Amino acid sequence: AVQRTFSIIKPDAVKKNVIGKIVSRFESNGLKVVASKMKHLSRQEAEGFYAVHKDRPFFKDLVDFMVSGPVVLQVLEGEDAIAKNRALMGATDPKKAEPGTIRADFAESIDANAVHGSDAPETAAIEIAYFFPACEVYAGR
Ligand code: CMP
Repeated sequence: AVQRTFSIIKPDAVKKNVIGKIVSRFESNGLKVVASKMKHLSRQEAEGFYAVHKDRPFFKDLVDFMVSGPVVLQVLEGEDAIAKNRALMGATDPKKAEPGTIRADFAESIDANAVHGSDAPETAAIEIAYFFPACEVYAGR
């Protein structure tokens, strides 16, 4: 089924100047950008976005990293978009990511791991709504 997923190109990838290379992988694999903006997240925005992780030991480092520079927030639409994006990203830890995935090719560490992608339809809907009002998401077809 056609789905939408939420993507973040994280501060490490923006600093490395690989926004276009990452978006190109989405586009050439059947995902269409239907919403997009660059933003330097406030601490409050990053903490709210990652609230499900607030009791995890890595939470502070994760938030520190996510506010260290601007990010690119996007909604991607396509057939099976959530699983497709996760396959393109590779494992959360770039050391464990398959060669040819975004994280294997562009990421350095589990925090500076280049991209975020939603893990399920319910979280995709919550994450999209956190950053994009419905009128800023454009139909892909
Ligand atoms: P992301 O998909 O953005 O969701 C939460 C982030 O926490 C994850 O990517 C990683 O960048 C970061 N993180 C740091 N340590 C861990 C860990 N041990 N397990 C999962 N995520 C981690």
